[in-house]
Amino acid sequence: MTVALAHPNIALVKYWGKQDKPGNIPATPNLSITLSELVTRTEVEEHDSDELWLNGEPSNDAKVMRFLAALRNRYPIGYLKITSSNNFPTGAGLASSASGFAALMTAINSHARLGLNAEIMSEWARQGSASAARSMFAGYVALVPPLWRAQAFAPASHWPLQVVVAVTSHAAKAVSSTRGMELSRRTSPFYGSWLRAGGDDFAAASDAINNRDFAALAEVAELSCLKMHSVMLTTRPTLAYWNQATVAAMQTVRDLRSQGCGVFFTIDAGPQVKAVCLPEDAERVAAALAGIDGVQQILRCGLGEAAHVVDDHAVDA
Ligand code: DP6
Repeated sequence: MTVALAHPNIALVKYWGKQDKPGNIPATPNLSITLSELVTRTEVEEHDSDELWLNGEPSNDAKVMRFLAALRNRYPIGYLKITSSNNFPTGAGLASSASGFAALMTAINSHARLGLNAEIMSEWARQGSASAARSMFAGYVALVPPLWRAQAFAPASHWPLQVVVAVTSHAAKAVSSTRGMELSRRTSPFYGSWLRAGGDDFAAASDAINNRDFAALAEVAELSCLKMHSVMLTTRPTLAYWNQATVAAMQTVRDLRSQGCGVFFTIDAGPQVKAVCLPEDAERVAAALAGIDGVQQILRCGLGEAAHVVDDHAVDA
């Protein structure tokens, strides 16, 4: 039996839309931070057929099944019992598919003794879910051309920012990212300009991180998030992932920043608000977000580790 852990990540420069070729490749370069505290734990063991358990329930998740089939086309991997659980809400815009595929790839690599390095595992994880490529690495992570394997951009120690997550709903999202971004590509009038701006946003965020320039990072990260949500909102049928507490939390973050607090927000395909902050301001941000009507839970994170194996009892295949 082999156990691997992986953390979700949140993109500061988002991707929303894929290239028109196989491999589940993002249309634009993107950049994320891997979170600590939130974690997916995935166990794999030999079995007489494939069996998948997600958060204590049997599952036949089609994405996982396709991922296993693709891996088996390339490597000799026997049937597996896979048991995976998250210590945070699943499928609700908290990047559970990112940590899920990163943990699964890491566990299978060790269990089946595939001997793949993190870059190659990242390429495989990307095929499961593109954001999963980034959860293979710690700290600041880039997913960029030409190979579209994630790579470490800067370690957490370079700039140990913190993240306060305001959970405003525990419900799983109604429209998956995969389907949502395909609808956006086909129908949003803003999709083309969103893609054209991706490279500049990536460059601006890279500079801001290299220079530890919080104001510059806040500006580009919020803009990337709001442009992505503009594309979502102008998709037909509309992709409206926010609720009232989401909007209230965004306003609170803006108010705090105008009072000199080092914080900015980012939001993915769900209603949760992730407030990225300077460590000295995290307490104040958490208290302010906790006081908003409709905020159900506050999660506090730092920057997390790469996906890794914690317990490996694999036998020779
Ligand atoms: C809004 O990586 O979940 O979180 O590859 O179809 O599984 P699939 O999509 P996924 O999309 C993530 C979208 C996002 C932005 C981001 O993380 O860059």
